[in-house]
Parts: sequence; C-alpha cells; structure tokens
Amino acid sequence: MAEHIGIVGAGYVGLTSAACFARLGHRVTCVDTDESKVDDLRRGVVSIAEPGLAELVAQGLEDGTLTFTTAQAELYGAGLVLLCLPTPPGEDGRPDLGVLETVVPQLGHLLRPGCVVVTKSTVPVGTAARLPHLLGRDDLPVVGNPEFLREGHAVEDFLHPDRVLVGTDPPDSPAARRVARLYEPTGAPVVATDSASAELAKYASNAFLAVKLSYVNVLAELCERFGADVREVSRTMGLDARIGPGFLAPGPGWGGSCLPKDTSALLHAAESAGVDFAIVRDAVRVNARQRARVVRTVRQAVTGSADGSLSGARIGLLGLAFKAGTGDLRDSPAVAVAADLARAGAELTAHDPAVGCVPGMGAVQVVDDPYLVAKDAAALVVLTEWPEFRDLDWARLAASADRAVVVDTRNLLDPDRLAEAGFTHVGVGTKP
Ligand code: UGA
Repeated sequence: MAEHIGIVGAGYVGLTSAACFARLGHRVTCVDTDESKVDDLRRGVVSIAEPGLAELVAQGLEDGTLTFTTAQAELYGAGLVLLCLPTPPGEDGRPDLGVLETVVPQLGHLLRPGCVVVTKSTVPVGTAARLPHLLGRDDLPVVGNPEFLREGHAVEDFLHPDRVLVGTDPPDSPAARRVARLYEPTGAPVVATDSASAELAKYASNAFLAVKLSYVNVLAELCERFGADVREVSRTMGLDARIGPGFLAPGPGWGGSCLPKDTSALLHAAESAGVDFAIVRDAVRVNARQRARVVRTVRQAVTGSADGSLSGARIGLLGLAFKAGTGDLRDSPAVAVAADLARAGAELTAHDPAVGCVPGMGAVQVVDDPYLVAKDAAALVVLTEWPEFRDLDWARLAASADRAVVVDTRNLLDPDRLAEAGFTHVGVGTKP
C-alpha cells in the first residue's frame, strides 16, 4: 500500500530515504530548513555524491511522487514522519541531540492523529522513550528504524538491505509493522524488537565493525614481526562463516563520520551505565596507534629509521578521503596521517580523485594530476584504496620520484607490477 511519508532533514540519510521511498512507490514530502538546499533539490540539483541518488531524485520529481519544501506544515497529512536529523558528536564525545531537541517540539502540533513518528538517525538508547515528551503528545506511535547505509553505497544499501530493524514498545506493534511494510519490496528480513534494543543494535553494529578492523590492524603488525602475510591470514579467517570475509582488510585506521562517532557514543553510554566496554575502548586506542604506525613506516622508508627526521622530505600522498568512493574528509585517517607527516617537517603533495583541497591544512598541496605527487618525492604513500591508483603508469611515477618507494597502507597495489616499474613496495602486514 502506498503511503504518504514525511521526511524531516534532507541530509545524507534523509535524502537517500526520500528518493528511495519515492522509488518504492510512496508519496514523499521532504522538509529541510535550508532554503537554498531545498531550491536546488526542487530543480534536481543534488550536492551529495552518491551513485544513483541524483537519478532517483530526478525521477521522483518528474513523477510528482517526491516534493521538497521548507514548510513543516506540509507534513500534515503524512501517515508516517521520519526524523533524519544530525546527531554529531559533542565536545565530550557524547551525541549532540540539539537539532533533534529543537526540531521535534516544532512538529508535535503539525502531525495528524495516528501519524507514526520514526527515528531514522542514530540516536542514544532511551531517545524513543523521550520522544512523546519532546513532541508534546503521547497519542503518536513512535518507531525506531535505524539505517545501515554505507557512504558511497547508500542507494544500493537502502534498496537491498541486509536487514530492516524496527523498534517499538511493545515490540512488533501495528506501527512497527506499518514501518516494516514500507521495505517489503526489498525482501529483507525484518527484526521487530523493542526500542532500546533497536537503538543499541545500531551502535553495536558499528562498534563491532570498528573492533574487527582494529583487530586486523594489530594482526597486520604481528604478521610483519613473524614474516606472515595478513592477506593469507584474513582470507583464511573470512572463510569461516562465523567470522565472515568483510572488514578484514588492514589500513591506516578506520574513520569517517560514523564509526568514530558511534564508538565514542557507545563508550559514553556504557560508562554512564557503569559497564566497562574495554574491548571498544581498546579498538579506539589501537586506531590512534595505527595512524602513528603509518607515520613510523614512512619515516623508516624515507630515512632508514622509524624515528628518522622528515624535515624537508618531499612526500607524495595518494588518497585523502576516509575511504574510496567518497570525497568525505571527516575523521579521515589519511588526513590525520598527513597532519602528522607535516608536523614532522615533510613537504606534502596529495592527489585524491574526489578531493580538491583540505580545508585548514595549507601544508598539503592538493593537485589534480596524480603524476605531480611523485615529483622529486622521497616516498609515495597510498592512503585511500581508489582502484584507479592501481592503473597509474608506475614507471612514469618512478622516473619523476627522487626515490621510488611506495608505502601502501591499503595493500592496494600489485608488488610485482610495482617492482617491474622500479618501485620498492612496502605493504601492511605483508612480507617485504
Ligand atoms: C558505516 C557502516 O559500515 C554502515 O553500516 C553504517 O550505516 C554507517 O557507518 C552509518 O552509521 O551511517 P561508512 O561510515 O560509510 O559506513 O564507512 P565504512 O564503509 O563502514 O568504512 C569505515 C572505515 O573502515 C573506513 O575508514 C574504511 O576505509 C575502513 N575499512 C573498511 C578498512 O580499513 N578496512 C576494511 O576492510 C573495511
């Protein structure tokens, strides 16, 4: 059954949800306070680089199933209203609920009786229980429906989710079933649970991914010490269905707008509940150490000593975004490594297919031409796993570098091809 869905917030989650629900046959009204963003969206101009998103927005606008507005009053008539508001980390690392606490009270009197209020943003445990108070109404059913969208794959993940999570008190209520029905065309399994479990499950999933990555990053260090190859070890582990093959590739550390924020939020929640979630705390600590480890590897490659001075050394960086497929620099390990290298005196030139500059970091010269990063370089460092880096003309890079050595923090490149091009390849957790 087609529903009229209201979406509050046209950010990354809100816009993806709006466009995808329109695609699934619903009528969607998307509200945002940012007038210029709404003007753009009405003309089909999408500023978020997500594969397939602009096309879905254009289709929804053409079909008349998707509308954008700044007028919250247009939410009246919606059978379900999805809150897609930012919950960024506050200064102390706890989620900042300021936007939610400002916007939700404005909505209470605008929603029609029976309207289902859905939290889609990642919210701390207990938020659903607070919503009736924030709305100023206790007659509206509240459903938690956290999203599991990866940046760069948001549309694909929305339309083909691994699972759909709906939380209400009591579980599996008519409102929860109504929300779950929206996703029926995706065929995904539905977990219908209580509100607290749904809220916690989102944090638990992201924190578990962070733990898995920190585990493999330490494993990589161990492999280097023992002359083992982390790719062989993690391939073996991943073939165990209980472990699974995903998130077993070592790197310069995990980053982005979600894993660091959600591990921090979970740690604060655990602390306030008097529970020592040491394994998550350790994953965060290991992550900071991983970045430092990359810097030591670069020092070693350039000077022959892990503590050697980088003063005046020209270093070329390939990749700045926190992962391939996005230009997002938020909490990017690549940027953290660049900052440490700059502090150590290195002169940095960087190329990233999706990044034009690093705000606030004048020390990094960002260039459009990847070949410029090698000019007179004492080393190249691959920090983001863009596949196109594999296909660069490595012989040409070697010819313009001062020393043809590449520190490949993603194990992205083929060491044999690199050797043919004259490069010394230094991987992570691999044999020299
Ligand atoms: C993450 C989760 O994967 C999504 O399920 C979740 O919905 C989203 O957060 C969110 O909370 O909204 P995302 O932030 O897009 O998605 O990033 P990931 O794809 O999870 O990557 C996180 C970090 O792990 C990146 O820095 C990436 O480079 C790193 N990573 C990932 C590795 O170093 N190795 C791997 O094998 C995989």
